[in-house]
Amino acid sequence: EIYATADLAARSLADHIAALIRSRDAEGRPTVLGLATGSTPVRLYRQLIRLHREEHLSFKNVITFNLDEYYGLSRSHSESYWRFMQEQLFTHIDIRSGNIHLPDGTVSRGEVFSSCRKYEEQIVAAGGLDLQVLGIGRTGHIGFNEPGSTRDSRTRLVTLDQLTRRDAARDFLGEANVPRHAITMGVGTILSAKEIVLLAWGTGKAEVIARAVEDPANDSLPASFLQGHPRIRFLIDESAASLL
Ligand code: GLP
Repeated sequence: EIYATADLAARSLADHIAALIRSRDAEGRPTVLGLATGSTPVRLYRQLIRLHREEHLSFKNVITFNLDEYYGLSRSHSESYWRFMQEQLFTHIDIRSGNIHLPDGTVSRGEVFSSCRKYEEQIVAAGGLDLQVLGIGRTGHIGFNEPGSTRDSRTRLVTLDQLTRRDAARDFLGEANVPRHAITMGVGTILSAKEIVLLAWGTGKAEVIARAVEDPANDSLPASFLQGHPRIRFLIDESAASLL
């Protein structure tokens, strides 16, 4: 779906999420959302905050699972995804703190495996992801599933690609400060969501969007695996669509 502006795309997805939350509320069931970080979903979060303030959209029965977290950063670190989500969304809405989940980037190496397995179990116990929101990295990553990630991969510790670390360098005031590892939901975890929506804006994403949509699905571009999902939409602006 190609929109004239990123804001229109973000608005459309926010309205869709609001309708989902309200219909599940009416059935007395929680809504389980998979959320993403990066600059792309910020517009979506602004729209959700607006719907909360102006149209009484409640997040009391919403459970969230974020895609990923840098490994080795404390929650309070200025670039942790925990902090990002608090600042961009959670502190502005009425979500219960116990319903918020992010991979734990602070566990020791010896605890990573069980921590990742627990994350997967928590998603299943919540009833599975109703809707997963995604951005896309220039390497074709979704979450932090870099090239080489398999279709059936699950939550795990990964090594970040050099281009991904370079793209993050500005936020960390230098590439040397960017963590080398992260914990991410796997491609298989993402594909287990009942519905997936990927957002992308700007010419910088045009090439990777064209490849994700038009190349045969393969592990050198993990976002291409989304092609196999029965309910996947890419909501993009005209610049991100310019090479399609
Ligand atoms: C990071 C995140 C991804 C995100 C990507 C793109 O690598 N782990 O989930 O999609 O950045 O970021 P941006 O939206 O800032 O372009």
